[in-house]
Amino acid sequence: ESSWDDEFKKLVQSFPKERSWAGSNLYFYQGFWCPSLVLKAFISFQKHFQAFNSDVIVATFPKCGTTWLKALTFSTLYRNQFPWDENPLLTFGPHQLVRFFEYDLYLNNPFPDLRNVCAYQPRLFSTHAPYATLPTSIKDSGCKIVYICRNPMDMFISLWLFAAKLRDKNRESLSLDEAFYKFYHGISAHGPFFDHVLGYWKASQENPNKILFLNFEDLKEDMDSHLKILAMFLGVPFTDDEEKQGVVEKIAKICSFENLKELEVNMKGVHTSGVRHTHFFRKGEVGDW
Ligand code: A3P
Repeated sequence: ESSWDDEFKKLVQSFPKERSWAGSNLYFYQGFWCPSLVLKAFISFQKHFQAFNSDVIVATFPKCGTTWLKALTFSTLYRNQFPWDENPLLTFGPHQLVRFFEYDLYLNNPFPDLRNVCAYQPRLFSTHAPYATLPTSIKDSGCKIVYICRNPMDMFISLWLFAAKLRDKNRESLSLDEAFYKFYHGISAHGPFFDHVLGYWKASQENPNKILFLNFEDLKEDMDSHLKILAMFLGVPFTDDEEKQGVVEKIAKICSFENLKELEVNMKGVHTSGVRHTHFFRKGEVGDW
């Protein structure tokens, strides 16, 4: 571990650096701006993570619907592994149930023991890592990736307000113009946004059985059809009986913004990355920009 620390310190010195929207540093690593908080974890994840063919990974750009997609994927994938009225989403936040590689599992440990971190099978993880920078074992194995994109204007405003909440109280907030200037130049956590989206878009076009590309706006407009697409993609299609019993609607309802936001677990507490759970829920609307 200590030799890895030394190696990391040397590496970091060679990376271009910019100020993040929340006031810390972003490092330009492999074509993307990585927050200083997770850079080391991110490199550990890249170096050491070994994917299983059965793994499912929720991949997103920040503020595009990560929390929502985690809840939807978790509830769809594992729906037959717990009684419905005991859905773990009622007692744990989506980020506790579907853990981030870089913001959680590898954050304080370059070699986390991943044997018991997923309560259900197949394993389900998440990341903000751009497609090009994913560990080769993810790209080359049979594991599946679910990605969600969002109108960049809504994403931009969501991120601007989120960053203001994370900013040190003593620092003045980033103005909208300053944030826009940075965004325009690709400078935001895991940006450039368009490169992130295009990386997953192209990969999903080349390999649609491996990568499912969803849009926040489409889910809002027609959740039921998209949940069926998601279930089919994950290899757990809804049966006729399930459809008759309203399982699709039940998943949509439990994962809805209105439901999740009001749950005690999402109103209290702090995520491993230091973000208060409540900050992941603001308005959840389309066109709010
Ligand atoms: P707004 O700030 O526009 O309200 P992420 O989960 O990627 O961090 O994205 C956060 C955005 O998704 C926030 O958008 C948040 O309110 C919204 N969101 C969180 N949970 C949601 C849900 N269940 N349904 C719809 N939007 C949700």
